[in-house]
Amino acid sequence: MTAAEAYVARMDARLAQQTRVLGEEPRTGQGGGAAQRLRADPHREPSPVLAFLFSLVGPDDTVLDVGGGAGRYGLSLALRCREVINVDPALAMGEQFQASAAEAGIGNARFIHSDWLQAQGLEGDVVLVTQVTFFIRDIEPFLRKLRAAARRRVVISLQAVPPPNHYWAFFRLVYGEDQVEAPGYRELLPVLWELGILPDVRILSADFPRRPDTQEGALEAALTGNWLRSEDRERARPLIEAHFDELFVRTPRGYEPREASPSKDVLVTWETTEAS
Ligand SMILES: C[S@@+](CC[C@H](N)C(=O)[O-])C[C@H]1O[C@@H](n2cnc3c(N)ncnc32)[C@H](O)[C@@H]1O
Repeated sequence: MTAAEAYVARMDARLAQQTRVLGEEPRTGQGGGAAQRLRADPHREPSPVLAFLFSLVGPDDTVLDVGGGAGRYGLSLALRCREVINVDPALAMGEQFQASAAEAGIGNARFIHSDWLQAQGLEGDVVLVTQVTFFIRDIEPFLRKLRAAARRRVVISLQAVPPPNHYWAFFRLVYGEDQVEAPGYRELLPVLWELGILPDVRILSADFPRRPDTQEGALEAALTGNWLRSEDRERARPLIEAHFDELFVRTPRGYEPREASPSKDVLVTWETTEAS
């Protein structure tokens, strides 16, 4: 089996488990709540991840932000480059993106409502993909299309532990079986190698939105997560409360599921003007 086939098989196994255990509700994390949480002030002090992105983008560049969501990175980059194009299939994300751009007075950023694999005629000097690859089943065509669309560079960023896996221990506690993990950097890098791409890899502190400051807030965040069927919330609450200290860790960002550690972002980048 190739690395790309293994990636697809993992996504299929995950979806089969979700459908069996959790039912048919879509679980893409693209709804209004997620969109609001992923919104960030474009003028904020740059995090290490944002500072790294700034170092890769110049004033004459067009940045194509694939799955750019509410513009957490794209809108900050728009303040420093010619144009940002956010291509994303989630309308709730588009609404937050447009609202955030308008509030910050940013006029050089546009939203295109489309899945990346369906999008046509889009290019950028820099193609950016942050916290998206663990939702993508058809990873090989997705990556090929990123490479083809990038006039100079592709940048992919993903948390060392992908967010869909943060509640792994909670899932086992409530459903009594191991959750099939979404693919992370360990699965992604070999797919790139198969495509003949040898990227630079940099590890930085994770750039995750703040976590709840209180135990009650952490409990509510867990109970409204995608890993749990809404019908199972009342049954899950006392179980999680009883195991709170095993499941959560207090960090400077708030209460975090223990499984989210190491709290790092993996930045994978390569120049498309090189042989690959
Ligand atoms: C966790 S959010 C990340 C948003 C943003 N990049 C960020 O870092 O804040 C994942 C995003 O990927 C988008 N997405 C999922 N599948 C996609 C696809 N096939 N093509 C483009 N975007 C996709 C979702 O709509 C969502 O906005």
